Amino acid sequence: MDKILIRGGNKISGKVKVSGSKNAALPILFSSLLSDQKSNFKNVPILQDIRTTLKLLNSLGSDCQFDEKKNEVVMNPSRVNQYEAPYDLVRTMRASVLVLGPLLARYGKAKVSLPGGCAIGTRPINFHLDALEKLGAQILLENGYVIATSKRLKGNEIKFPFPSVGATENLMMAAVLAEGETVMRNCAREPEIVDLARALRSMGAVIEGEGSSTIHIQGKESLSGANYSVMGDRIEAGTFLSAAFITGGSVQTEGLSSEFLEAVLEKFETAGAEVIRNNDSIELRSKGKPLSTPIETGPYPGFPTDMQAQFMAVMSIAKGESVITETIFENRFMHVPELNRLGAEIHVQGNKAVVKGKEKLLGAPLTATDLRASASLVLGGLCAQGETVVNRVYHLDRGYENMEMKLRSLGADIERIK
Ligand code: EPZ
Repeated sequence: MDKILIRGGNKISGKVKVSGSKNAALPILFSSLLSDQKSNFKNVPILQDIRTTLKLLNSLGSDCQFDEKKNEVVMNPSRVNQYEAPYDLVRTMRASVLVLGPLLARYGKAKVSLPGGCAIGTRPINFHLDALEKLGAQILLENGYVIATSKRLKGNEIKFPFPSVGATENLMMAAVLAEGETVMRNCAREPEIVDLARALRSMGAVIEGEGSSTIHIQGKESLSGANYSVMGDRIEAGTFLSAAFITGGSVQTEGLSSEFLEAVLEKFETAGAEVIRNNDSIELRSKGKPLSTPIETGPYPGFPTDMQAQFMAVMSIAKGESVITETIFENRFMHVPELNRLGAEIHVQGNKAVVKGKEKLLGAPLTATDLRASASLVLGGLCAQGETVVNRVYHLDRGYENMEMKLRSLGADIERIK
């Protein structure tokens, strides 16, 4: 298993190109199942989760070609003849449940392993299933699988109990082929939802209101193939800006508009950094040690839970005490004991973590537990004195394209040990 070795202390500075967004690319790739024509997707990041998605789509009979040099995927779903997402694939990537909406809408059947809990929480999919039933699907739970069948889905009114990202995406993909109009209320408003709507529109789908909490969809009988370039990854951008802040450097990310990261940028500013916003780039200039700043995660446009661990790493060396409140997932503090191994002083009380800023961190061997936790450990290692080794880097590889190469180009002393 690969490890990452970091000799901390270097300032992280320079320009870095943000890759395509993982969480936008995943539903967009699944949406190719809604048509029998070829789809073409650009700016697809080379990540483990993308490979898993292509493996799943291939196993359904879709022919997927990933030109990794160009970050381009061509998908030919004309021979799809399987409708099952097996346990082994769903276990490695929960987002596999996003196959449910498209398969059901296009083929009237889908069998998808129930994802079960994961390192950050129980993460049920009841909102997805209840809403699909509202569109006329019959859902059975059998032997750990969701078995869903339907005639042509019928548009309906849906109100989500919580603005779930995945449920909103699954239902958008189901409703675009349903008969009549679907009105979805209390939808997630994340930029990745907007990106999915745009990709679906490139297939001929009729959608209005994405990015607000009410989405209207007029179902079509059929859709054409997609031709779409995936948006930049806002969490990757936020992670590199955090790297500049925690090391006292200055980084400019390119390939993402600052509007998608506003909640995070405002907190960086409260913590004393200078942030320069542009249409396609964001620059963070550290102005010395960060100042303690509280955050509370929330659905977009709130502070993203996917940046909580990285912000906590920055606060671990801030002047003063910060309270970090996690409201989306019940167990997303697994990075705390690991950051404490670097000398951070963080105490968890329920869904709050109290972070007492320390003068400095000291390198140590660490173990990553999930994707964003891994990123926070790398950040800790970049600012810690001496050597830090991060084990179980496969978590990082699920969601960051070439992270150590990009950090090296920004001045980090970091290497992968095979
Ligand atoms: C998406 O997960 C992202 N994953 C996550 O990114 C992200 O942390 C999360 O949204 C929140 O922003 C992808 O886009 C692939 P949710 P998702 O449904 O869709 C509860 C990363 O690091 N809930 O919005 O699974 C759920 O348990 C990852 O890149 C139900 O109770 O998140 C959670 O507490 C990790 N029932 C809350 O809602 C349901 O049916 C929000 O989950 C669905 C969700």
